[in-house]
Amino acid sequence: MPHATRRLTGALTAACAMAAALLLWAAPAHADELSGGRLDWGVKESFRSYITGPIAQGEVQTGDGASAADGAYRFHSAAGSYEDGTAVVDYQGWVYFWGHDGELDLTFANPSVEYSGSSGTLYVYVNGARTDMASLSGASLRADGGTVAVSDAAATLTANGASAFAGYYEAGQELDPVSFSADVAVEPEETEAPSESAGAAETGDAVTGAVVDWGVRASWREYVSGDIAEGGWTVADGAADGGAVFRFAEGAGTATAADYTLAFQGTVAFTGTDVDLALTDPVIAATDGKGVLSAEVDGARVDLVSFEAELAEADGVLLAQDVPTALTEAAVPVFGGFYQAGDPMDPLLVAVPLTAGAVLPALPDLGSDPVEPATSAPATADADAASSGTGPLVWIVPAAIAVLLGAGAVTLAVLQRRKRTAQDSPAAPPAGDTPDPTQDGPEGPDDDKER
Ligand code: HEM
Repeated sequence: MPHATRRLTGALTAACAMAAALLLWAAPAHADELSGGRLDWGVKESFRSYITGPIAQGEVQTGDGASAADGAYRFHSAAGSYEDGTAVVDYQGWVYFWGHDGELDLTFANPSVEYSGSSGTLYVYVNGARTDMASLSGASLRADGGTVAVSDAAATLTANGASAFAGYYEAGQELDPVSFSADVAVEPEETEAPSESAGAAETGDAVTGAVVDWGVRASWREYVSGDIAEGGWTVADGAADGGAVFRFAEGAGTATAADYTLAFQGTVAFTGTDVDLALTDPVIAATDGKGVLSAEVDGARVDLVSFEAELAEADGVLLAQDVPTALTEAAVPVFGGFYQAGDPMDPLLVAVPLTAGAVLPALPDLGSDPVEPATSAPATADADAASSGTGPLVWIVPAAIAVLLGAGAVTLAVLQRRKRTAQDSPAAPPAGDTPDPTQDGPEGPDDDKER
């Protein structure tokens, strides 16, 4: 190699090193706060069948906002952080397995994940003790559009996890895959009112801003989203999906402790094989504490469930929660005759704000719908930069690439000139012969059970 070319190559190497150092220095040092999201994990399909089958003759319950859907258990209300390509996220809710007349008595609560790149760990509170349950791998952590997410990470049981199953599984046993997502929290603007606080009460008994939470019926949701109907549900027009409950908002009407009539807004629509049911704009009406919840079904108002509840005032909110409900005769055809009049349906929560600053009970927050991963290599961009456009990589990466491009261009230009001089040719170099150095971006990445 001629001496001059060696010098130029040396200069290019130095420029590359400088750019690499710049990139390393630019790695974001702050953590993004995560808030709102879901973790879906079915534990293990054969274990679920074993529990409810003829051997264990048991049952499975979910609580604290967890729900069963799509063959998995859905935990909610993520809280955590994302920093330097690592997500650490806690979720809420529990699932309880019972069998063998109580010999088998197992609660998995409040799972959390630590995940970097394409591997991580799933932790679960097992009967109150935090346990590293499974090693996760094989799915990339995506951080884009203000959300961090992992889809279908393979889960293998750890030694501590094996103990939780009383030795019936060994470490290394494959479990159901784990998917999770969480939203990057956005700083609330100073003028913004608290999200769950509602409008002031009006004069007399007239009220606005009330909410009603109702999950319809857990086994109905499981049926719709399970192997038989293979469907799901959507919420619209002011209804929100909290996993195990749907919230209908904007409730307006009149309310005292025992007598209340409130009209809410929103639709939850269930679809699947032989299932097409939309429940719209529910109304609850109670006299002397005895009430009915109705909704628009196919254009007609139908009484769905009856209940008994008086509203109790606390902290500026008239509230009734965990109110048992029973199916009405009129609603039997609504559910295709699967349930009989008087069958228990999901409990209700009714909350009526009486003052401007009154804070309503929070709905379990499932966060944004996670975007399905692209079939090509998933993105691993910095979530904060993606969401706000102000992360340091926004300008550092182009600057580093510019240094490389510049160094490469100078090198080629000088080499071309030397070649031309050597050939003594006046011809210009071909247009569009710009070097395109491909530069990979930095590697993106208590026993509180309630029953
Ligand atoms: C009275 C006590 C128990 C009896 C008689 C019993 C019996 C059995 C039997 C016969 C099987 C084999 C099922 C099959 O191969 O189809 C089994 C599987 C299993 N048992 Fe139990 N068991 C008991 C307690 C427990 C307890 C306390 C746990 C703790 C979680 C447990 C966890 C499991 C697990 C994880 C499996 C494997 C399920 C699968 O994935 O197929 N069992 N048990």
